[in-house]
Amino acid sequence: MRHTRIIVTHYGGPEELRVVEEECPEPKVGEVRVRVLAAGVSLPDVMMREGVHPETPRLPFTPGWDLVGAVEQLGPGVSGIEPGQIVAALPISGAYAEFVCLPQSEVVPVPPGLDAGEAVSLVLNYITAYQMMHRSAKVRAGQRVLIHGAAGGVGTARLQLGRLAGLEMYGTCSSRGASAVSELGGVPIDYQNQDFVREIHRLTGEGADAVFDGIGGTHIWRSRKALRPGGTVVVYGLTSSLSGGRLASGRRHRFHGIPIFGLYIAGGWILPSRRRVVPYSIQWLKRLRPAFFRQDLTGLLELLQQQKIKPLIAGRFPLAEARQAHELLGQGGVTGKLVLVCAGSSSGSGTA
Ligand SMILES: NC(=O)c1ccc[n+]([C@@H]2O[C@H](COP(=O)([O-])OP(=O)(O)OC[C@H]3O[C@@H](n4cnc5c(N)ncnc54)[C@H](OP(=O)(O)O)[C@@H]3O)[C@@H](O)[C@H]2O)c1
Repeated sequence: MRHTRIIVTHYGGPEELRVVEEECPEPKVGEVRVRVLAAGVSLPDVMMREGVHPETPRLPFTPGWDLVGAVEQLGPGVSGIEPGQIVAALPISGAYAEFVCLPQSEVVPVPPGLDAGEAVSLVLNYITAYQMMHRSAKVRAGQRVLIHGAAGGVGTARLQLGRLAGLEMYGTCSSRGASAVSELGGVPIDYQNQDFVREIHRLTGEGADAVFDGIGGTHIWRSRKALRPGGTVVVYGLTSSLSGGRLASGRRHRFHGIPIFGLYIAGGWILPSRRRVVPYSIQWLKRLRPAFFRQDLTGLLELLQQQKIKPLIAGRFPLAEARQAHELLGQGGVTGKLVLVCAGSSSGSGTA
């Protein structure tokens, strides 16, 4: 049986995403073959395509951090799971494909009846948002938080989860995302026309209890200035390494942001004023504490089933149009999550 997948053979722009047709992968011992219903498109995918994300695989590779699909075939030694079971996974790369083989231990059951596009939004974006709020910053109801990139994939997830947690929320966004941020319960701060440090102190007096910074670089230090004494900046991304969805600096070095993270984290501890900077990485927390990932994803899927959260889907594209999805994300102004849907999956029409 043949299938379609997307490959990157050279690091670079969206035009480097090629559609190939080839034999379906066969599940090895302990693996299941999953027919992908929906794969997420996110900035970490764009950073891998550009070759600047620390997790970038060797060329050629298939991008795709997160997927939801149906178990279609069991490899030798697999038990306790049936063909037809809907599952979610975070393979980090490889999800832009019609079929993917994954270790059974990597897949998490998805309750029946959920929309695959909404469910896949939980795997990278909502887990990132949830774990940063509840495992890194340990927020409490009534606290004030500043969310950077609040109209984006992770940002809108954080607003929905922050509202459930009873937080007072402020969110930086461009003017295109302001109404979405307000509707999700945040006070928008236009990062292109306002100084967010001044604005957060004007609005809160003392500053924020926690700031979530996926922008990176020198922005981290400004985020620290937005804190009240005793507050925490959680750093988790390098949106600033891209401009218009392409490399901002021309330096294609996958670890270039790490030393600056280290510097700010150390500075946060050494300098007086009790303002901490702590890092978050979904993949590292999953490697170190896999039970957290499974537990948090299961809990978020329950919230989705109970309709307590409703991921914003900015657009659904057929798998073969991955390039167009990357172009759109690179242009900016996307509110929520972009999703690739596979031919033959019913999620293109809105259901899994
Ligand atoms: N560490 C982890 O485990 C982890 C996991 C997931 C994601 N991430 C990181 O999280 C970040 C966000 O990912 P995403 O998929 O949510 O991206 P996204 O959907 O593209 O959202 C990014 C948002 O940031 C906004 N933005 C750009 N520059 C900004 C600035 N200087 N100040 C405030 N907002 C700004 C954009 O607004 P406009 O387009 O309107 O300008 C956009 O809404 C990325 O750096 C990604 O690598 C990290």
